[in-house]
Amino acid sequence: MKIALINGSPKVNNSASGVILEDLKYYISEKAEILDIDFHKSVVSEEQLKILNSAEAWVFAYPLYVDGIPSHLLSCLVQLEKARLQNHNIHIYGIVNCGFYEGIQAEFALKILQNWCIKAGFTWGGGIGIGGGGCLSMMPKTKYGQGPKAPIHKALELITDKIIRHETQENNYVSVAFPRFLYKMAAEMGWRQLIKYNGGKAKDLKKQWK
Ligand SMILES: Cc1cc2nc3c(=O)[nH]c(=O)nc-3n(C[C@H](O)[C@H](O)[C@H](O)COP(=O)(O)O)c2cc1C
Repeated sequence: MKIALINGSPKVNNSASGVILEDLKYYISEKAEILDIDFHKSVVSEEQLKILNSAEAWVFAYPLYVDGIPSHLLSCLVQLEKARLQNHNIHIYGIVNCGFYEGIQAEFALKILQNWCIKAGFTWGGGIGIGGGGCLSMMPKTKYGQGPKAPIHKALELITDKIIRHETQENNYVSVAFPRFLYKMAAEMGWRQLIKYNGGKAKDLKKQWK
């Protein structure tokens, strides 16, 4: 069985989506052949279409952008919808990560992919909404199923079973196992550093731009 893992983050390096797909590989790799696809830009190449056509399942991992999906990914979906794929029995799974702590924030971004599946004639297999995505690319490697990523690993293990069996699951929402107030403090510290690095002032973060 061939499974395409599609990174739908515009970031080429250090994306949370990339970290999630690497962790998913740990669960899938001995059960199926993995095909890596990057959708960092808004165009799907002929080569990528050929690879995708050979897979029985596609797993999209992407960030939540303004409660929806990144615009470049939307453009890729429109192209996939129009492509003449021979393999129509493709199951689609979605893994959305977001900056907010609560994974449920990703509900509508998963529904967008689900609705697209109906329109494009693919089978929706379900998804995962992951909260606390902002810290995933900075986390040291932990043992699978342990540490702050434990709830994410559990959700990835469960969805792997569904993907391999060509089954569907209800969307599952998880967060990093890290206290919410510490996550918020770390995020605010990061924003202060970032604005200074870019020549601004920390107090500008509260400014109302008109
Ligand atoms: C333009 C933009 C819009 C975003 N909108 C949201 C949002 O509506 N809700 C949220 O929780 N996080 C939002 N985020 C944060 C990202 O979802 C978060 O940083 C995520 O971990 C990025 O994933 P990636 O590294 O895989 O690209 C937004 C980030 C950007 C750059």
